[in-house]
Amino acid sequence: CWEVASTSRIDCYPEPGASQESCEARGCCWKAPAHDESSPVKHQGVPMCFYPIDYPTYAVSAYNETENGFKATLQKIKTGIADRYPNVIKHLQLIASYDANERLHVKIFDPEQQRYEVPFPKLPGPAAAKAENPLYEVKMTKNPFAFKVIRKSNGQTLFDSSAGAFHFYDQYIELTSYLPSKYIYGLGQHTDRLLHPTDYSRFTFWASDVSPGLNLPLYGTQPFFMAMDGEGKSHGVLLFNSNAMDVILSPAPAITYRTIGGILDFYFFLGPLPSNVVAQYTELVGRPALPPYWSLGFHLCKYGYGSLNHTQEVMQRNIDAGIPLDVQWNDIDYMNGSKDFTINQENFAGVKQFVHALHERGMHYVIITDPGISAAEPAGSYPPFEDGLAMDIFVKNATGGILLGEVWTGGLTAFPDFTHPNATEYWTKQVSDFHQSLPFDGLWIDMNEPSNFVDGSVNGCPQSSLEDPPYLPYLVNHSPLRSRTICMTARLSAGLSYNLHNLYGLTEAMVTRDALMTVRPNKRPFIISRSTFVGQGKYSGLWSGDIHSTWEALQQSIPSILNFNMFGMPLIGADICGFNGNTTKELCQRWQEVGAFYPFARNHNSLGNMDQDPAFFGDDVAASSRKALLVRYQLLPVYYTLFYHASTRGEMVVRPLFFGFAEDRTTFEIDWQFLVGTHIMVSPVLTPDTSEIDAYFPAGRWYDFYTGREIDSEDQWVTLPAPLDTINLHIRGGGILPTQKPEQTTTATRKNPFTLVVALNDSHEAYGDLFWDDGEQLDVLEAKNYSYISFRVQMSPPALVSVVEVDNFKNMPKLDGVVVFGAGMPHSVLVNGDSWEFTVDKDTKTLKLERLKLDLLKPFRISF
Ligand code: NOJ
Repeated sequence: CWEVASTSRIDCYPEPGASQESCEARGCCWKAPAHDESSPVKHQGVPMCFYPIDYPTYAVSAYNETENGFKATLQKIKTGIADRYPNVIKHLQLIASYDANERLHVKIFDPEQQRYEVPFPKLPGPAAAKAENPLYEVKMTKNPFAFKVIRKSNGQTLFDSSAGAFHFYDQYIELTSYLPSKYIYGLGQHTDRLLHPTDYSRFTFWASDVSPGLNLPLYGTQPFFMAMDGEGKSHGVLLFNSNAMDVILSPAPAITYRTIGGILDFYFFLGPLPSNVVAQYTELVGRPALPPYWSLGFHLCKYGYGSLNHTQEVMQRNIDAGIPLDVQWNDIDYMNGSKDFTINQENFAGVKQFVHALHERGMHYVIITDPGISAAEPAGSYPPFEDGLAMDIFVKNATGGILLGEVWTGGLTAFPDFTHPNATEYWTKQVSDFHQSLPFDGLWIDMNEPSNFVDGSVNGCPQSSLEDPPYLPYLVNHSPLRSRTICMTARLSAGLSYNLHNLYGLTEAMVTRDALMTVRPNKRPFIISRSTFVGQGKYSGLWSGDIHSTWEALQQSIPSILNFNMFGMPLIGADICGFNGNTTKELCQRWQEVGAFYPFARNHNSLGNMDQDPAFFGDDVAASSRKALLVRYQLLPVYYTLFYHASTRGEMVVRPLFFGFAEDRTTFEIDWQFLVGTHIMVSPVLTPDTSEIDAYFPAGRWYDFYTGREIDSEDQWVTLPAPLDTINLHIRGGGILPTQKPEQTTTATRKNPFTLVVALNDSHEAYGDLFWDDGEQLDVLEAKNYSYISFRVQMSPPALVSVVEVDNFKNMPKLDGVVVFGAGMPHSVLVNGDSWEFTVDKDTKTLKLERLKLDLLKPFRISF
């Protein structure tokens, strides 16, 4: 025990109530911590009961090479230490498949009895043959069993399960690995800094309808992390397991997984660049769907508009204030008694005509739906319930009856089982029948953890080790798993709620996508979900839930948005100006400015709170919101092209700074600035009463977006003025951004000619690209019904040239303008060989060309 440093301890008694006696009965070491940092949620403190080195649990009893890797048999060691939980699994099989040079799959399971394995998303099976040139090697230790994943190029151990102990019971699986560094990111969904502290921080994975608090388990579960080593190399690890689990980051540094079901199904992604890791991860779990162009505009919503009149009033005052606006939303108050697929005919009479009028203006309309279907309506009056009964698609309780809970309707509700073979038919019927009355353009799927206002069901839940497992991952106040959701013993077609709970949102998104594809044929579905699981970007985007209207929540919105970009769900936003509680004018002003750069930009707040739409606070908030949103609209071709790369290559839309500068350690902790793509850096104000900010400028040339002036960033930390009406935005030399003159809607903006904003780097080079299509047709990528053009500034002789790589979509606005930051003082400019008029700002050295009218589908050359 003395050999284990206090910073290397791994907890051997995570349950409450450890004593020296109970600890030693587990064969573990008991010592008071050198210093106690305990607090119940965030820092568990240094454990008093911890594993000795080489704690014996399993040994390798057989090892064989296979076509694509190896397999091993693990055998429980006889130690005399009593089993800590029921149903230990004595024989285990480990299968390692070297699926790709950059990807390794390690699966540990019971070879004798089939256990639950995550059914969605379906991941590709093992490769037929071993990867030819894997970037990794795997080493096994026989007794006690452990495995290591090593990066071959530098010998760095990425994963080493010899830390702590390895346990495999029916309802408790534990494994701890040393980490190569303390730079750990991901592990969603939790509110935390981007860089997680390795100070015994605990992350519980359990989809929960709670108001976000530091490190509480939130709405979705994304058991994936990324690590940076000190040399700028990155790797990722997915534990593909959907059961409730605790994950602990400890100072060794190490990661401990404690899951209460399923199997250990690990995937390792070797990078080595952070962007490679995300591309490799999304290649496995599914790449995000291309969103409709209009959904990248600004969205306005509130819970509690209360009526169509008020909805219209708020929308109109924003339009009158010149706020770019594409999508108006309605929350549950449009419904009759909060019942799905109904309209409150009194307060929302005429909503169908309203939607037609929106469409005529080139705008769109999105409504909420909740999974809870009212089971309390008079017989024959509510098809969503009756169809569900007839098609047998509701979640059942342990005795086979329909599980009844309560959600917004105030009466009994049943929950559709989205894993049921009839679920798509059922949901599609409800969605399409309702679409006849209300021609919405997208669906907001809320409350899909699933949330239930009674614990388990109105009739409680049976006693069972599923309801009260021997080890309970940490939920707020040690609540049981069924709290504010359905019973763990509830049955779905694909299995028990105990196993499938974390997949409810994913399966609802899958079925909703199918429904929308029927209702709006050949159009890309737009779905925003609250609950999410691995690989959900293929089906929906999300928002970060019921955050508070506080400066802390504004700060935390950035890590949450960056994390979901890493999880392959780039279509993410946070409620701009905050959801719970009243915002303030200053907070909302700053938040509108940052929110304008979220991939999904929606202002939304809760019932009973003051209005907070950008026009509400008067001229100055309206003006600065307008300014920021106009920049967003101007940059939408950049965002859209980034979404194209996300769908096709697994790139991220917004990124932490370290994604662009993996060798610069200062960037590893920065989560108050972020990148849009590779060349735009947003440096927002996230604190009150602030008139300047210290921004970090990684190596390279940086230009102010608004003026084109080069920043003197030699010292890297630069104090920037931060007036209330402007968000700091910089472009890194080397980028070419396609832009359009912004209008009030994306529909109008899309028709304007393009201007290329070129930012030259130190070698006077730059690169950019543009993806363009009709903006909403489904399957454009498969059908190649788009155009794709790349732009480059090359040095000798200096020229901006384009390459038309795909030209299948012809309806493209012309290229009218070119702006070159850092151009110097050119003597002449030739456009396709003809001399062209130009201006140069002597002060900033910005070159400007106008009225070019170039057809982007033909290659051009502009020399300067
Ligand atoms: C909970 C959601 O998180 C919130 O955004 C919504 O306004 C309410 N449900 C009411 O539907």
